[in-house]
Amino acid sequence: MNRKGGSGKTTSAVSLAAVFRAWGLTSRIVDGDAQMASATYWLPPQTASGAPTLLDVFLGDATLAEATAPTTVPGVAIVPSLDTLGRVESERPPGSDGLLAGELDSDASYDIELLDAAPSMGLVTVSMLAASTDVVLMMTTSTLDLVGAAEMARPLDLVRRRLNPNLRISAVVMVDDDGNTMLSRDMGDSLAADYPNALIYRIPHSVRVREAPGAHEPIIDYAPDNPVSAAYWRLAAALVPRLGLTWAVGPDTIGVEQ
Ligand SMILES: Nc1ncnc2c1ncn2[C@@H]1O[C@H](COP(=O)(O)OP(=O)(O)O)[C@@H](O)[C@H]1O
Ligand SMILES: [Mg+2]
Repeated sequence: MNRKGGSGKTTSAVSLAAVFRAWGLTSRIVDGDAQMASATYWLPPQTASGAPTLLDVFLGDATLAEATAPTTVPGVAIVPSLDTLGRVESERPPGSDGLLAGELDSDASYDIELLDAAPSMGLVTVSMLAASTDVVLMMTTSTLDLVGAAEMARPLDLVRRRLNPNLRISAVVMVDDDGNTMLSRDMGDSLAADYPNALIYRIPHSVRVREAPGAHEPIIDYAPDNPVSAAYWRLAAALVPRLGLTWAVGPDTIGVEQ
């Protein structure tokens, strides 16, 4: 999550799903963003138009399982969203806070659930936080993003106190950052002090990342030899023990340096 757009949330959700799939773990991406430039564009649902979306789940017209569609990537499913998702914020269906937690409880078909939040603290995002075990805070390397992260502490704390005591911030990921500027180092130090239990991680810059959505392929398939792909393999490997998952295969057998 991050209340700001352009902080690498969707890129990371799609990339991590692809790595987990390569390790034999199935995953489902729940697209919480009403913008068309979202996970639903990148990995289009392989269903007829008119199939249920996340909006229908919030309005009570479909279950999460019914709104889940396969993508062209085997083992990666999506709950798509269209620009109509904004109706959740305007209609405010009662019970939205706990909706996704309940839906996920009643459909445990996937090894990993990746909830790709909207750039806002709206009802859909709160419902995602209430349903989550682990938050990955996403950001770009800028002073404004550091200030923005501090601003998210209070709403996250309220979600923890009122809706989901188990919520923890497991990682802070700085995207589009090669780690060789003073700002990057200072920001990394500051984040490590603010989130002592979280993994602080950088994903380097590559323009190939910006091309991959148009090819409807995860970056690890679109540009397998790119340093960004290597960084996502390593990020996923570092997240596995933090998420309480156990290895489906040993990390050494898949070429990941830990
Ligand atoms: N490591 C990276 N290198 C270069 N561009 C990146 C990188 N990660 C993300 N981007 C680009 O930044 C933009 C925002 O990323 P996105 O994942 O859509 O953010 P969000 O979901 O937080 O809005 C996209 O154009 C994406 O291609
Ligand atoms: Mg996004």
